[in-house]
Amino acid sequence: MDWGMKNRMSRLIKPKDNRAVWLAIDHGYFLGPISKLEDPARTIKPLIPYTDALMLTRGVLRNCIDTGLDMPFLLRVSGGNSIAGPALSNEGVHTSMEEALRLNASAVAFSIYVGTEHEHQTLMCLGSLVNEGQRYGMPVLAVTAVGKELEKRDARYLGLCCRIAAELGAQAVKTYYCDDFEKVVKSCPVPVVIAGGPKLNTAMDALELAHSAIQQGACGVDMGRNIWQSPNAVGMIKAIRAIVHGNASVKEAAKLLKAR
Ligand code: 5RP
Repeated sequence: MDWGMKNRMSRLIKPKDNRAVWLAIDHGYFLGPISKLEDPARTIKPLIPYTDALMLTRGVLRNCIDTGLDMPFLLRVSGGNSIAGPALSNEGVHTSMEEALRLNASAVAFSIYVGTEHEHQTLMCLGSLVNEGQRYGMPVLAVTAVGKELEKRDARYLGLCCRIAAELGAQAVKTYYCDDFEKVVKSCPVPVVIAGGPKLNTAMDALELAHSAIQQGACGVDMGRNIWQSPNAVGMIKAIRAIVHGNASVKEAAKLLKAR
């Protein structure tokens, strides 16, 4: 890995423990103004001190994020789909590498839809993005998207997606936690972070999820809804951070939910 690529990666995955707490706020690119992201700046303000990096689109970056913010970000460059459209899997690259460099992104993020009618399109786009990323020293995060088919989230399918993403050159992969998650991580030669998915029933469920993922080899989280849709968003991110960077147990982390 060249210096620039390495340096960007080390801003995202902290070298002191090789772990990462990323806050995903990119959902609007296909879901529109979902609950608690109507005003992204307001939602993330109290969460910033506990966040290693943001994941977002250029629109939210330019309009809602202070240029003085000293925090790296992963730029969502894929989309062209919407929750109202015929196929969530129909994504392409809408934001150029030149734009990612101009905005000072630390990585670009792209969703792949393995096993769908748009598998080939999204995988070829990922390959092209990695080619450009190699040229400019820009890491590529591949997101193993499942669209509305949440039931797809098992180790066999996610293991397939993560491995394909790594084989095509992605520097890191974002996927979902699942039973036998260890198998997914062990067969993926690049760092794996987990998404939280739709809001779980309880805060403890989200902490359990993050804890299990870290125990089974994830290098961190790139979570959104289970943090900022929580009525105790600050407590949630503090607790998640303790699990990721402090190796806290679920019980220890849960104490931070109460310390507002
Ligand atoms: C959307 C994304 C989101 O960033 C991702 O799903 C993380 O957010 P959440 O924890 O809310 O699932 O990549 O495609």
